[in-house]
Amino acid sequence: MENMLCIDDLQLSINGRQILDGVSLSLQKGSFAALCGRNGAGKTQLLRCIKGLRKPDSGKITIDGSAANEKTRMKRIALVFQNAEMQIVSQSVEKDIAFGPENMGLDRSEVERRVEAALDLMGLKDKAKQRPDTLSGGELRKCAIAGILAMEPDVILLDEPFANLDYPSILTVIRSLIALHEKGYSIIVVSHDAEKFLAHTDTLFIMQNGRIAVSGPSSNLFRELPDYDIYLPDSVDFGRLSWLK
Ligand SMILES: Nc1ncnc2c1ncn2[C@@H]1O[C@H](COP(=O)(O)OP(=O)(O)OP(=O)(O)O)[C@@H](O)[C@H]1O
Ligand SMILES: [Mg+2]
Repeated sequence: MENMLCIDDLQLSINGRQILDGVSLSLQKGSFAALCGRNGAGKTQLLRCIKGLRKPDSGKITIDGSAANEKTRMKRIALVFQNAEMQIVSQSVEKDIAFGPENMGLDRSEVERRVEAALDLMGLKDKAKQRPDTLSGGELRKCAIAGILAMEPDVILLDEPFANLDYPSILTVIRSLIALHEKGYSIIVVSHDAEKFLAHTDTLFIMQNGRIAVSGPSSNLFRELPDYDIYLPDSVDFGRLSWLK
């Protein structure tokens, strides 16, 4: 299998404190990965470095086989922030999704094509004309993800996509992530709620103290989560770790 994203020995210090301490990982093309770790482990800072929002002190980031500078990564990697819906400012769902591709300077018909495709994939077609401030929490988060999709990235990173959502909204977001996975996107989800979505992932990265402590197939490694103080319900098998029925 080819790698979509390779990170080699990333080092990052902020104000003299080591935040990332030799992070290395590979994400295969089309892979759906979970990145778990305790508060302060460095997950968000790692996503920011991958996206190109923060420059690491050293280390290499390769996308699809080529070393990628920050500018390339800003284009090819999408990051859905925690509370991404706070950034939704447009008057309608479809206008908000169009915002990114319009800023890329694409022509009208290409913007429309991308907005249609993103609405379709996220199941938001019937909400296209609705004002974002009238959407539910789960729908808003889907709207934020749709806005990212319209930029047609290679890799999608999501930071805490389930935070502050109720049970049906979490299911909505999990289903949309599964749809993206089936579509072939390469995805990394950072979440404290491993038990909610791990059954749908193929890869697990566990981060501790600025390093990737464990990486490999989720189905083999999920039992190690409690060793890193990450909650898992007792005595479940991997397949039953799904909230989807
Ligand atoms: N601007 C900053 N200045 C100083 N320290 C920072 C800054 N940003 C992050 N840090 C530190 O970097 C470490 C890693 O932070 P990060 O946000 O990546 O953690 P995280 O794994 O995402 O945690 P959480 O699960 O709580 O979101 C933390 O100890 C944090 O205090
Ligand atoms: Mg974080």
